[in-house]
Amino acid sequence: MAPSDDATIVLRPAEATAGGLLERYLALRARTQHLVRDLSAEDQLAQSMPDASPAKWHLAHTTWFFETFLLGPNLEGYRPFDERFGYLFNSYYETLGPRQPRPERGLLTRPSLERVMAYRAHVDEAMTRLLLSGAEGLGALFDLGVAHEEQHQELILMDILHLFAQSPLKPVYGRGHSPAPGAAPSDLAFVGYAGGLVEIGHGGDGFAFDNEGPRHKVFLAPFSLADRLVTNGEWLSFMADGGYDRPELWLSDGWSQVQSEGWRAPLYWEHGPEGWQAMSLHGLRPVDPATPVSHLSYFEAEAYAAWAGARLPTEAEWEHVAAQLPIRGVFLARGTPAPAAAEGGTSAPRQMFGDLWEWTRSAYAPYPGFVSAPGAVGEYNGKFMSGQMVLRGGACVTPPGHVRATYRNFFHPHQRWMFSGLRLARDGAAPAPRRSAFEADVVAGLSRRQKSVPPKYFYDAPGSALFEDICGLPEYYPTRTELALLREVAPQLTTHVPGGAALVEFGSGASLKTRVLLDHAPQIAVYTPIDISPSALESAVASLSADYPELELSPLVEDFTIALDLPGAAQRRPAFGFFPGSTIGNLLPEEAVEFLANARHLLGPGARFLVGADLVKAADVLVAAYDDAQGVTAAFNLNLLTRMNRELGADFDLSGFAHRAVWNEPKSRIEMHLVAVRDQSVTVAGRRFDFAEGETIHTENSHKFTPEALSTLAAQAGWRLEAQWISPAPEFGLFLLVN
Ligand code: AVI
Repeated sequence: MAPSDDATIVLRPAEATAGGLLERYLALRARTQHLVRDLSAEDQLAQSMPDASPAKWHLAHTTWFFETFLLGPNLEGYRPFDERFGYLFNSYYETLGPRQPRPERGLLTRPSLERVMAYRAHVDEAMTRLLLSGAEGLGALFDLGVAHEEQHQELILMDILHLFAQSPLKPVYGRGHSPAPGAAPSDLAFVGYAGGLVEIGHGGDGFAFDNEGPRHKVFLAPFSLADRLVTNGEWLSFMADGGYDRPELWLSDGWSQVQSEGWRAPLYWEHGPEGWQAMSLHGLRPVDPATPVSHLSYFEAEAYAAWAGARLPTEAEWEHVAAQLPIRGVFLARGTPAPAAAEGGTSAPRQMFGDLWEWTRSAYAPYPGFVSAPGAVGEYNGKFMSGQMVLRGGACVTPPGHVRATYRNFFHPHQRWMFSGLRLARDGAAPAPRRSAFEADVVAGLSRRQKSVPPKYFYDAPGSALFEDICGLPEYYPTRTELALLREVAPQLTTHVPGGAALVEFGSGASLKTRVLLDHAPQIAVYTPIDISPSALESAVASLSADYPELELSPLVEDFTIALDLPGAAQRRPAFGFFPGSTIGNLLPEEAVEFLANARHLLGPGARFLVGADLVKAADVLVAAYDDAQGVTAAFNLNLLTRMNRELGADFDLSGFAHRAVWNEPKSRIEMHLVAVRDQSVTVAGRRFDFAEGETIHTENSHKFTPEALSTLAAQAGWRLEAQWISPAPEFGLFLLVN
């Protein structure tokens, strides 16, 4: 344990309350020492990279700052603790002479940590005398000393995290509990601002760093600012879309950095058997999709903004918005710091202060009229006004009360060991119209390198009718094969259906196959079809209630992949799940596992789940099933363009695209695409998308399984395979799972 406990500041209570300045000073020094109280002497000596400094050095340097700028010039008869410390603990003040090179601060095994603590005590005692001797005249210089040490409090945590991240043991800093995963924040929305001629910069009373002024006017064109920070979940989508592989998204210097450093993810992210994890002050933890993405360089923030069809805010835009908001957020408090998920949804931007520093697109430069103060103290900020970018807002490691709307932090564009995240901005103040899920998914899908649209959008009314036609095509064997198999094995199969059961069907559509089960299992008391289409449910329920008068019907209008609760009538009954049609094949393997796991929770312990899945077979049989001679599947695929034209004001020329179905052997799936037959540009929802000849929109995957592959997926979701029935060629499987 380090000898750096709060008790090292020994002061009589009368002195401690004698003046506001003294109280502030003592509280500051105690907080700094509190930050290192759980660090070993070794932790405090080590330096993990040239930009970072040992905690011991921070403790001494902040002390040197008070000694040099306050005690030396102001306390009569003050004798420096050790004349040699000026060389060791001067950070960058040229006016004050040569110093220990920054990258070699970790070589300072002497003075010992104990002697550094004695140095702190010596300066604290002298500062106490100075502050008690009518120190009001110190004014801004005292405030600067406090703000300076507060900056180093944050640096201590940044540097310790970097140090601990290098350790294979992945140590945990401090004693705080690990944060629980956050609740998913609301969809990102943009808040519009008219802009105009506005004022920014510090001008009034109260302390500010020199670089925050003078207050001055700037003209802001109308703009919009995102109402929250970008999350880890959103960053994962950027990565999944080849974010780190696409030079077109990156600034040239950023792309060079990606190449030379081999960046594949934010700093501290590691990929392991359990997926992405990130080193934090809480140790190595799974990446929480709900919390803001942290430890980004300016280059990464820029690339993400380009990918998202947005930009970073300027510092003037950010400040104009922040100046109207209360300073509320997650700052350095009692527990171990971590950024938190955005809560609630309001019309004002959230997370503006605290959580993470936000990159802006503004270069760190002097405001009009800025002049550095004369002397050493003038070196504090002004001389760094080249080659760095501004960040705003403070972070979860920033001491509370340290940040203002005018506060300008700055780092080099490649640096990322600080707690840095990003917030998007856009040109124009027009309130972003609330986009339908269809529009949002289409715009996102067409913005990808491999353009895509999710297959669920096939099923508007004309698309659903075309799908019914597909099911009757000679080439499309799955529907009739599954139905025949179901009829054949139903007597056997339905012995697994418990008495008084609730039959729950996922994506039930017209509920045709259901009838086979109902005919063989009169013990089914309740039927809950789950489908996104109210009209499909309505007509299915109408015809079933006529044919099965004893059956209680309790439908659920819901996207079956996200249904969380069964209707009351189906609850407290043994559940029997049904998922026919090989719709499971339209999900990616990871989505299929997630769906199966959700279904397991929905159906409950002991439940059984009958899943129909199409099996791997000869490629020509498969391709024919998805590219029939009459062109019905082609019409089904192209109907997606018609739907976009109608619902999203798109201008697709249907003659510019052709249907394609291909067997992707390694991924064991039929893929459907719409291929551009010539170069063309299309407008969708007011956005332009360019197509090169031969480029495709990937519209559907239809995975084909081996029985082993299917039962592995089920096992990953916690199901056990109880029985299976396979049809003769063309092979189709019915799999009975038990929870
Ligand atoms: C709904 N789903 C199981 C069908 C399939 O075979 O993947 C959709 C389909 N797409 C083209 N033809 C049929």
